[in-house]
Amino acid sequence: MRVLVIGSGGREHALAWKLAQSPLLSQLFVAPGNGGTGEIAENVVLDITDHAAVVGFCKLMRIDFVVVGPDAQVVAGLGDDIRTAGIACFCPSKAAGQLEGSKSFTKALCDEMGIPTAAYRRFESESEALDYLATRTAPIVIKADGLAAGKGVTVAETIEAARGAVEDCFAGAFGAAGASVVIEEFMVGEEVSLFVLCDGQTMLPLTTAQDHKRAHDGDTGPNTGGMGAYSPADIMTPELEAQVMREIIEPTVRGLRERGTPYQGVLYAGLMLTAEGPKLVEYNARFGDPETQVMMLRLQSDLLELLYATATGTLAGHAPRWSEDTALTVILASKGYPGAYNTGSAIGGLEGLNHEGIEVFHAGTRREDGRLLAAGGRVLNVTALGADIAEAQRRVYRCVDQIDWPEGFCRRDIGWRAIERARH
Ligand code: AMP
Ligand code: GLY
Repeated sequence: MRVLVIGSGGREHALAWKLAQSPLLSQLFVAPGNGGTGEIAENVVLDITDHAAVVGFCKLMRIDFVVVGPDAQVVAGLGDDIRTAGIACFCPSKAAGQLEGSKSFTKALCDEMGIPTAAYRRFESESEALDYLATRTAPIVIKADGLAAGKGVTVAETIEAARGAVEDCFAGAFGAAGASVVIEEFMVGEEVSLFVLCDGQTMLPLTTAQDHKRAHDGDTGPNTGGMGAYSPADIMTPELEAQVMREIIEPTVRGLRERGTPYQGVLYAGLMLTAEGPKLVEYNARFGDPETQVMMLRLQSDLLELLYATATGTLAGHAPRWSEDTALTVILASKGYPGAYNTGSAIGGLEGLNHEGIEVFHAGTRREDGRLLAAGGRVLNVTALGADIAEAQRRVYRCVDQIDWPEGFCRRDIGWRAIERARH
């Protein structure tokens, strides 16, 4: 099979790395790719926001199957345009992708299907939103309704801060995404993510992971795309997972099917384990970054087979196998990320890191004259397996310490919640 992966992050490098192991694969392309994907696949210079250009490339290169990584392409409906051209594609439809593209779409579906989630109200008028806030207490959560690169959510500790967030949204801080605003009850608990493949009908739970969204140690500092992750997340017991499948995933998939917009792709459920049971924080309509990096290191089955079955409605009967080990990944980011940062600095020291169960996935990197250069905010994902999370963490940081990149930084405490839990 001739396969094209769309995207350029650590997620896409991890997907490409796993796809490259498939006996079904004959040739692998990544558009636009990065310094890491270029080593295992052919990087393609392609504007992935130009759907006609992507379809044109697929026809020219006789691509059999396209795997779409990033949220923006899912929400823009790239999958529909590729399928219309007669090419199989792992990517939910634009209609089903609204699960990620519109917070109020998901909230309305939760209402309709009785799915546990935070109570909420949606506002298109700033004055009505502010009036409502006057009747509430903090903490409270303010969300721009549309896609805002993970930055449209404010967990406000005071009503004053909540008012500020509402005013920012309506003042255009998140562009069109902020034209309507969701105000949500604050949920108390620990967050965990569950990934489920769905072919429109059959649901196949993959595994769990826990991300670390804040930039600095101890979960402090600004929100980022994710600074590290581990899998599996032991806090999600098999009983809890069954409850989430029954109360959250199954009604979501049924609801979308009944509306005539079945979900085909990976459903990434962000969950809060509250005292009243698991509740949905949000859905993403694609794989997580950096959660994919840890999941791919643990996956023992053929990823290409699984994704193709998802895209073609033939998932029934598949049962992915996973390593019993824990995988952990740490993101090396450019100093300044998620704010302003410089690019172009040289990265060294990666040569000696080729050990069994260790992978350095690339995100914002490029190669120039044989050198590896930083080219983005999140740059490298140092990923390792260990018999338990503490061992995985030790192995990762041993590698991190060998990488020579003075312009980068990372968190030193990825996995801390699970490590503390294991100690007690
Ligand atoms: P989202 O983009 O919806 O995942 O929100 C980003 C982050 O904000 C989540 O990962 C949570 O940490 C936090 N968050 C969102 N909604 C809530 C809520 N209702 N209660 C508590 N925390 C929340
Ligand atoms: N790791 C968070 C995300 O992929 O949205």
